[in-house]
Amino acid sequence: MTRKRPIVAIDGPAGAGKSTVARRLADALAYVLVDTGAMYRAVALAAKRAGVAWSDGPGLGQLAHGLVADNALSFERDPGLGVRVKLVTKEAREDISEAIRTPDMAQGASLVSAHSQVRDVLLELQRLAGRGGGVVLEGRDIGTVVFPDAEVKFFLTASADVRAKRRHAELAAKGQTVSYEETLADVKRRDAQDEGRAVAPLKQAEGAILVDSTNLTFEQTVAHMLEHVTRAVEANEAREARKT
Ligand code: DC
Repeated sequence: MTRKRPIVAIDGPAGAGKSTVARRLADALAYVLVDTGAMYRAVALAAKRAGVAWSDGPGLGQLAHGLVADNALSFERDPGLGVRVKLVTKEAREDISEAIRTPDMAQGASLVSAHSQVRDVLLELQRLAGRGGGVVLEGRDIGTVVFPDAEVKFFLTASADVRAKRRHAELAAKGQTVSYEETLADVKRRDAQDEGRAVAPLKQAEGAILVDSTNLTFEQTVAHMLEHVTRAVEANEAREARKT
């Protein structure tokens, strides 16, 4: 399938810097940004509040289905946060952007995302959000499952140690007191869960460009990825121009 504007897929393990890079690329290209991890985190939070266990696949599937059917999740672009997430119920419209970005919800999202009942519901939402192109999607299975035909696919990674250091600094900046050792253990646990699950495990998609940011600064990483995307955008434009 060819689209007027490309889909940019960014997958990779926890703490590789996907969110920040995705935000920068979306800004530079004026593309829509879709943070699919935020969707899993929102389901994890809603489940916790509703008393549905993170191990209960059918219960979580039903809950996720209800959230989508009721239009209860809203995702808005936010210059500071990347994506602002709201949970809309009959009673209130609650901003859950901060509440979903805790180590507990990261773990919850990882567990919740292992259930096919949840993935099926969110997959539909993600395809709907991205199918027109002109979009940057970041997650774990964008290039393998959600949009295997994305025009540009990246697998962004870094060593577990470097990812834990970055995550730890991020949490500390937000005033969350977690030790580096705990953060490293969290990163490794999530890697094992996300790579080891049966449904849509985290892996490098066919045709994905591997970007290892262990020894790159953030700016170098962004510049390198933007170069690839710019080339793909130009190729796309040339193809579109030939059609007219
Ligand atoms: O990117 P993140 O840390 O916000 O993602 C939270 C969890 O959600 C992650 O550990 C695995 C899951 N996830 C997923 O399974 N598939 C995606 N496309 C995005 C996230």
